[in-house]
Amino acid sequence: MMGVETMSEAPKIVTLPPGPKSRRLLEERERYVPPGVYLIAPIALERAEGAVVEDVDGNRYIDFTSGIGVTSLGHTRREIVEVIKEQAERLIHTCIHVTNYRPYLDLAKELTEITPGRFPKRAILLNSGAEAVENAVKIVRQYSKRPGIISFENSFHGRTYMALTLTGKWDPYKVGFAPFVPGVYMAPYAYCYRCPFHLNYPDCGLACVEYIEKSLLKTQVPPQEVGGLIAEPIQGEGGFIAPPPDYFKALKALCDDHGILLIIDEVQTGFGRTGRWFAIEHWGVEPDVMTMGKAIAAGLPLSAVVARDELMRDVYPGSLGGTYGGNPLACVAALKVIEIIKRDGIVERAARLGEKISKRLGEMGERYEIIGDIRGKGPMMAMELVKDRGTKEPAVEETKEVLKTALNRGLLLLKAGLYGNVVRLHPPLTIEDELLEKGLDLLEETIRSVSQ
Ligand SMILES: Cc1ncc(COP(=O)(O)O)c(C=O)c1O
Repeated sequence: MMGVETMSEAPKIVTLPPGPKSRRLLEERERYVPPGVYLIAPIALERAEGAVVEDVDGNRYIDFTSGIGVTSLGHTRREIVEVIKEQAERLIHTCIHVTNYRPYLDLAKELTEITPGRFPKRAILLNSGAEAVENAVKIVRQYSKRPGIISFENSFHGRTYMALTLTGKWDPYKVGFAPFVPGVYMAPYAYCYRCPFHLNYPDCGLACVEYIEKSLLKTQVPPQEVGGLIAEPIQGEGGFIAPPPDYFKALKALCDDHGILLIIDEVQTGFGRTGRWFAIEHWGVEPDVMTMGKAIAAGLPLSAVVARDELMRDVYPGSLGGTYGGNPLACVAALKVIEIIKRDGIVERAARLGEKISKRLGEMGERYEIIGDIRGKGPMMAMELVKDRGTKEPAVEETKEVLKTALNRGLLLLKAGLYGNVVRLHPPLTIEDELLEKGLDLLEETIRSVSQ
């Protein structure tokens, strides 16, 4: 029996992870699954509830990963499980190309209403973040009749060919997969801690935006051949890089000057993760196109593209979609997710959670030299670990050690970043205060032991 009381008794380590049962599954994985599918923690899960996961050996961990920002309302939340079960008994699949069904339409309407911008919009539903990115680019190219797309260094947009081409990190994502899709141009991002121009904000005058205008659009591709520019509002896999306050306004102005459509990829940042419904709201910018996924449906595969009505209403009939996109089970889960976020004030809760996390990380930053930078928005916070605060040499091995030590103590963590030296936090937005504090205590103990 899965009881709230039992599962919330965490962390609980009964055998050093990976325990014997996890190890056996690991051997099977190594035998049958290609190593291209990477693994963060060498444990196998048996069950999960709220902010706690339990492995097959009976170890319990506080989950600061949410399955990479997906189970934001906690694992196996009862009311979501119930709507999925009810829907499964009525209709599992028909395909939106074959017949219509209400949950798809209700969700499309909801998404056009909760996204920034009071202009008419439309939404298409898909299965994964990468697929949303693919479709966003298709919509932009068909509408604008311009092939070029600008993307950013250190970005991550997924593993299908267009999404991968747009991704600004070579190893491991792109290794051995060339050639990529034509028409993509890379610009440096506002990674201020490691500014590509070795400048400091605000004295830099946003040199990274100016570079697009003064260099990229003059040397690589003319603006009249660029249909869209795609950016994460906070680079997720890139290490939770949140650009300075005036960055996106400047980027949007540049796009508008040249008739380039702004695509904001909210796959990792949407649905309250940063203390706003969507992260781009922190910068007061209304994108032309948005992609979303992950937390949208509490763990069922679903993603979406939401765009201005004029971009979507004339898309060539039959040129978009797929067999499973907007599956009824995923749609009812997403509708319930949105209902809970509204009803329980989850966005405000996330903002408060962010204040607590930011305060604790700030204190850790004062105590431990290994922490070179602390950044993010709301509860989407990260620490970049360095060997030396002056040289900023990435503390790559130490970061691996942090994840391993934390796991051994009962805390599940993720890393990120160009150098793999960023510890990022993705706790459920509904995590109880006590579990959050315990998790942050474990994180601090871990950082202390690794810094010694
Ligand atoms: C910003 C962003 N876009 C796209 C994706 C790809 O999503 P998926 O793995 O669901 O294809 C990710 C995944 O981490 C992401 O963070």
